[in-house]
Amino acid sequence: MTAPVLEVKELVAGYEPGVPIVRGASIRVDQGEIVVVLGPNGAGKSSFIKAIAGLVPKSGGSVHLVGEDITAVPAHEMVRRGLAFVPQTENIFPLMSIEDNLKVAAAVLPKTEIAAGIREVYDLFPDLSQRRRTAAGNLSGGQRQMLAVARALVVRPKLLVLDEPSAGLSPKFVSMVFDMLSDIRAHGVTILLVEQNARAALAIGDRAYVLVEGQDRHEGIASELWNDPVVAELYLGRRGKRNSDGNPA
Ligand SMILES: Nc1ncnc2c1ncn2[C@@H]1O[C@H](COP(=O)(O)OP(=O)(O)O)[C@@H](O)[C@H]1O
Ligand SMILES: [Mg+2]
Repeated sequence: MTAPVLEVKELVAGYEPGVPIVRGASIRVDQGEIVVVLGPNGAGKSSFIKAIAGLVPKSGGSVHLVGEDITAVPAHEMVRRGLAFVPQTENIFPLMSIEDNLKVAAAVLPKTEIAAGIREVYDLFPDLSQRRRTAAGNLSGGQRQMLAVARALVVRPKLLVLDEPSAGLSPKFVSMVFDMLSDIRAHGVTILLVEQNARAALAIGDRAYVLVEGQDRHEGIASELWNDPVVAELYLGRRGKRNSDGNPA
């Protein structure tokens, strides 16, 4: 049996010593999956994936990437190990062209692989290819997220980790971002996704975890979780009450 792409066991992490925000959270992501982490605001979702990516100090537990222990790997080394993290904000350089954004991201690759890496993401995102000389700051919100994801993919990561890629986008761009993630998965990329937009995330996800107070409280098949009463209670705060857009009332 091959090792999971990501295996996080009993992770403890936080910003100050003795104040854990992530309190023993465990998840697994298998090859080719989209795994979603849901949870109320302040549950520690961002802290959790930042800790996985080496951006928040860990004080317990372990993180393995395709069987390799990356628990102590510093953030700037993660990309080389195969873990690409797309933060929620400030994930592109707005004053630089699309092409230069990609070149900076590709700089960790061996010189001979840079051009091929960039060509691959242009094949995946023709819109970016057409506008390669455009300053990234001139892109729409949805295209900016596309560029942020392209920057992560240019190094052909084993795992793509995203923090709320749909946050702050208008509905049209939200569906564009989720369609894009489905497409990327169809190209064989394994994805770990944190989202507030539970309905849209569960629609493209395979499995999901619900994080509450820094712990994984619930796990299930994405398509089943939406109707799960435990999730309704934990995540939505009260049983079954939702807005027409499917988000917590
Ligand atoms: N940079 C930081 N320094 C100190 N505490 C933080 C920092 N970022 C987040 N926190 C705290 O961690 C907790 C979880 O936040 P976060 O991980 O952003 O949750 P979520 O992404 O689920 O909304 C919150 O109590 C928040 O105040
Ligand atoms: Mg967050």
